[in-house]
Amino acid sequence: MAKQKGSAGVERVTTGIPGLDPLIEGGLPKGTAVLVTGSAGTGKTIFGLQYLVEGARKGEKGVYINFDEQKEQLFAQAMCFGWDLEKLEADGLIKVLNFDMTKTHVVNVIVELENFMKKMEPKRLVLDSISILGIYSQVSAGAELSQLLGIRSDNMGNMSMDDIVSRGSIMGLIGKIRGFGATSLIISELPEQSQWLSRDTVSEFVCDGVIVLVKNTALNKRGLRIEKMRGTEHELSSVDFTINGKGVNVKEKS
Ligand SMILES: Nc1ncnc2c1ncn2[C@@H]1O[C@H](COP(=O)(O)OP(=O)(O)OP(=O)(O)O)[C@@H](O)[C@H]1O
Ligand SMILES: [Mg+2]
Repeated sequence: MAKQKGSAGVERVTTGIPGLDPLIEGGLPKGTAVLVTGSAGTGKTIFGLQYLVEGARKGEKGVYINFDEQKEQLFAQAMCFGWDLEKLEADGLIKVLNFDMTKTHVVNVIVELENFMKKMEPKRLVLDSISILGIYSQVSAGAELSQLLGIRSDNMGNMSMDDIVSRGSIMGLIGKIRGFGATSLIISELPEQSQWLSRDTVSEFVCDGVIVLVKNTALNKRGLRIEKMRGTEHELSSVDFTINGKGVNVKEKS
């Protein structure tokens, strides 16, 4: 009989990243929000796209929410790995939602997202990245956003209003995303040498899981670490991974 793990009853969602699912009892716990964090160029966007393409292969709808790349650029990047996002969009399996934060307000993004999720009901969601939203929550801090996300500004010590709204927005937003019911990847930027696991310093506590992607330039290697995965038995040590013409690939342990 197969070894029973501590969380045998938890339904799993496969990631599509070869070698990763065996490290997390078969996949992401269904319905959770998992942070994928790393510095620039660590493979976060490719990881997120690969996750959605895996869902599309199984007939599961997915949405990719993007703030910093033009749709055409993203489609071209995906094509390098043989992922035809244009076709997947036409087939109704993947939807790319692009928001230009210089032209819209965080409140509008959330409202639009809520409406969209009700309409499409995707099983998978990728938000790329929460760091951008955090920055714009700061500059567009206002009563409307605080009210929408239920942010309270009392008992916050001597934090600036910008910080309160930004961190409150991140927490509120992750809560909202989890409430959509999809299994979500929340991508975060991670400044090199940071003592935290995300730029905003709160995502790692709010999310149900944290996957850290690392570049070791001195050794010419990439590493992946499961920092946290609620309801899952997993190792803590880093495993090597590669990015090649097929996407992200975690080397299985021999
Ligand atoms: N076809 C490929 N073969 C091998 N490596 C590739 C290929 N395409 C991209 N890469 C690697 O992936 C990196 C980009 O990955 P990705 O865009 O997912 O990173 P990211 O973490 O999202 O970066 P950013 O923080 O800038 O958004 C490139 O810098 C390169 O090192
Ligand atoms: Mg990226």
